[in-house]
Amino acid sequence: MSSRGHLTLLACESGRAFADRIAAALRQIYNNEPNLEPFTFKRSTEVPFPNGEIKTVIEENIRGEDIYIVQCCDDPLAPDRSVNDNLMALFTAIDAACRSDADSVTTVVPHFPYARQERKKARESITAQLIARFLEDSGTRKVITIDIHAEAIEGFFHQATLENLHAARLIIDYFSSRYRIDNMVCVAPDVGSADRARFYSKNFGCDLAICDKARDYSKIGKIETMRLVGDVRDRDVFIGDDIIATGGTMINAMRLLKEAGARDIYLAATLPFFSGNAPEKFDRAYQQGLFRTLIGTDAVFRGEQFARVYPWYEEVSVAPLFAQVIFNINQKRSVSALLK
Ligand code: R5P
Repeated sequence: MSSRGHLTLLACESGRAFADRIAAALRQIYNNEPNLEPFTFKRSTEVPFPNGEIKTVIEENIRGEDIYIVQCCDDPLAPDRSVNDNLMALFTAIDAACRSDADSVTTVVPHFPYARQERKKARESITAQLIARFLEDSGTRKVITIDIHAEAIEGFFHQATLENLHAARLIIDYFSSRYRIDNMVCVAPDVGSADRARFYSKNFGCDLAICDKARDYSKIGKIETMRLVGDVRDRDVFIGDDIIATGGTMINAMRLLKEAGARDIYLAATLPFFSGNAPEKFDRAYQQGLFRTLIGTDAVFRGEQFARVYPWYEEVSVAPLFAQVIFNINQKRSVSALLK
């Protein structure tokens, strides 16, 4: 058989907007493959219970199909739905798909929930490993995500495989077609981001500098100290990170870089969560001239409105990349070139 079976896309409630974009990109791919049976996009409904419990119900027959379930656990468009609600909706969708005799169930999570705790410091849980276990126990045998916070999480899966995509190439293409990259330095906002910054610097063909950040883990989002390794005087700066949560890392890095003589600063992050009042903090930093633009991706789906309210925000869509990977997996074609 040349494919894994009929490709069906299924969205949980908070994954629907991103799944719509994947579906649009898949339609274009199928338009160029007239001999293939088209994919289908099937409906699911979320049923809430008065005590706060939740379950997903699949509305159509999926027996024998190759199912891709899309869920965005952090959903800025529905702030009343917690990450945990959305996770439970996802687990019950996977379980429902397995119990409905889908041939294979793949989970598409543009951001892997709880990924920031992949090791323990004190008497605490390794939550990323728990999520991997729960996903496998629900019945998924493949997970697709992008720029997972720690690549070691792949090793937490025993029965399922993880495909970790990268947004950097898309961000590089977008950025180089709009902004000048001569006289630019790529900066890692912390030592953990050094590999990513090295990739950016190699592909932009520019120098590298690193901010050395120390956190106080007894206080949520609190950064203790930051110092710069490298030279940014009279240079433009590009800072690429995986996550923006409170914004503390980026904003502290920008202040340090400005003190060190940086000219224009450009920011990029695959997962712009903007927790709490982070948008207002970036707005203030923008008014103060700390940066020129912040490029995020729709892996955290914010819709059109956000960029209208905040003129410093630009979005790159990673949905076509997800669509191509889903298509290649279904057609049993190689995905390695898409994962770089
Ligand atoms: C840290 O290891 C990550 O790569 C990000 O730098 C961090 O999660 C960003 O968090 P915040 O915006 O709260 O500083």
